Amino acid sequence: MAVLKKIRSRLFSSGAAGEGDAFGVPESARAARAAAGAQTRYDIRPLTVAQLDECWRLDQRCFVDGEAYSRETFEYLLTSPDSVSYRAVTADGTMVGFIVGIVEPDATGHITTLGVAPEHRRRGIAQRMLAKVEDGFRRRGVRIARLEVRSVNNGAQELYVKLGFAVTQRLPRYYSNGGDGLLMIKSLV
Ligand SMILES: CC(C)(COP(=O)(O)OP(=O)(O)OC[C@H]1O[C@@H](n2cnc3c(N)ncnc32)[C@H](O)[C@@H]1OP(=O)(O)O)[C@@H](O)C(=O)NCCC(=O)NCCS
Repeated sequence: MAVLKKIRSRLFSSGAAGEGDAFGVPESARAARAAAGAQTRYDIRPLTVAQLDECWRLDQRCFVDGEAYSRETFEYLLTSPDSVSYRAVTADGTMVGFIVGIVEPDATGHITTLGVAPEHRRRGIAQRMLAKVEDGFRRRGVRIARLEVRSVNNGAQELYVKLGFAVTQRLPRYYSNGGDGLLMIKSLV
């Protein structure tokens, strides 16, 4: 999702934050997952530092290009009083999705990372978590949500456009491997 230059600069360690790409899913696999997903119940619950290690491990499964967030980055994000973060869990309590939002000093809501376990994708989990974060932002008086996405991450971009985000700026070499980012914005008013 986002390599947060702001967060990076606040952290003592370097190269801490990162983001990966979404994966294409073959149509047959999608249909099988959709059928399985229809029978799977997911709850969306607050994500706190109590789930730090589980979230960090899941992040590494979601971002496999070597740019997953470090444990320190998650600790920083999840202990912030400005964090608006959720997780998706299965009936047995296993975390299969996470989203981390931060209310920035300029009162925008910054969605810093979002991931869903590969075997639970295309079941509406990300869409539901995004809706929860947006509601959380609104409750804190946030009027604009923003996020960064890799220019080559077409799947995530489709998700964001579907939910009302629009690209407002290209961010050349935003990512540590030199890849460009796109800044996307949504009005929450
Ligand atoms: C991007 C990601 C979070 C989406 O999670 P998800 O739970 O599968 O998304 P949803 O099921 O809520 O998708 C809702 C809609 O968004 C769009 N969408 C989501 N993933 C898509 C993909 N890979 N390709 C095309 N459209 C996609 C579709 O319109 C989808 O509706 P549909 O399944 O009915 O067609 C997940 O693929 C992921 O974790 N990817 C790796 C990490 C990543 O790239 N995170 C985002 C960084 S900015």
